[in-house]
Amino acid sequence: MTSEDVSRARADKPVIDGRVGARTELDGRSVILLTANNYLGLAGDTDIIERSCAAARQYGSGSTLNPPLATTPLHEQLCETLAQFHHTSSALLFNSCTSANVAVACTLAGKDDRIFSDRLNHASIIDGCRLSPAKTRIYENRDLDHLDALLSEPHHGARLVITDGIFSMEGDAADLPRMIALCRRHNATLVVDESHAAGVIGPGGRGTAALQGCAGDIDLYTGTLSKAFGGFAGGYVAGRADLVRRLHDHGRFYMFTTAITPSSAAGALAAIERVMRDDTLVRRLAENAARLRAGLKALGLRILGHDHPITPILVGDEQKAREFSRELLRDGVYIGAICFPIVARGEARLRAQASAAHSTADIDEAITAIGKAARRVGLIG
Ligand SMILES: Cc1ncc(COP(=O)(O)O)c(C=O)c1O
Repeated sequence: MTSEDVSRARADKPVIDGRVGARTELDGRSVILLTANNYLGLAGDTDIIERSCAAARQYGSGSTLNPPLATTPLHEQLCETLAQFHHTSSALLFNSCTSANVAVACTLAGKDDRIFSDRLNHASIIDGCRLSPAKTRIYENRDLDHLDALLSEPHHGARLVITDGIFSMEGDAADLPRMIALCRRHNATLVVDESHAAGVIGPGGRGTAALQGCAGDIDLYTGTLSKAFGGFAGGYVAGRADLVRRLHDHGRFYMFTTAITPSSAAGALAAIERVMRDDTLVRRLAENAARLRAGLKALGLRILGHDHPITPILVGDEQKAREFSRELLRDGVYIGAICFPIVARGEARLRAQASAAHSTADIDEAITAIGKAARRVGLIG
């Protein structure tokens, strides 16, 4: 980056100058980072970084190959570990969960089939549906009566239901046991995106389905390596072997793109192994998230979601949300403002996300700073 590039970037977003963690260097000073998907703090973990660097030294900086042509033991081991993590028989790596979601919608549903997608699903699911030859029916967010009605419409092709496990801008969970029952009744395949749940919630961090006691009943999971599992660029599917095989053999977003780097595979593998060995970080994350949520509610702010580290502070007006974020940064805490088109107009928010890396003192300091900034911008009295 030239100095001009840096100034331009700085004009509309802060520049990170140091390793991400509970705190990071932002625009040259140390702030509490409360806006990252670094749920377990593993993106800044020295051991994970070392495993990643060692793989680059051994295999090179990139795989430079499309996945069907060749693989490494690291990529294979990561697939096996992801399958075990989700209690499924098979898994396949993609270079992002975005690619995985698009591949699922385009490969598992043909022109005579139908996809049923939640209105608040992640953008990559929405884009996958737009690119898919199948017709998409959208049901209102978590409205399973609406889904039931759409599934009941006469139709002879296959049915694919896709949902986020945890909705990324709200922090709400899908009701998976009820969705499984509906899918069985209507002979539909259920795909759950666990990007904000794998390594984050549920027993041992195994995700929304594990939390709701139905991990073995999901046909296919999609997920990312870019959040709890060390922040590496990469995504995956895990689930029924026949579906994974179809994605392997026909998924264009799998075949025609370069495999994730060996350093990403090694680092993510180290992160998942850590979570499977020891749930200390998952429990620490839950404690921090609960403390943050309770503290923000006690301030009188409008907080969305339940029992998940995604803790959106609803502001409404976009200008005010940006001002709130700027004021908060002045007090040493960074939470980015989320505005249209990421969320609907009039629903701007600051999405606070605790990490296992935060100390109790960090969380308390952040709550105090949020209270002061919220008063200054007139959100609370
Ligand atoms: C629910 C959900 N799915 C998919 C993605 C995309 O993940 P990736 O960064 O691996 O493309 C995200 C990332 O923000 C997400 O929140």
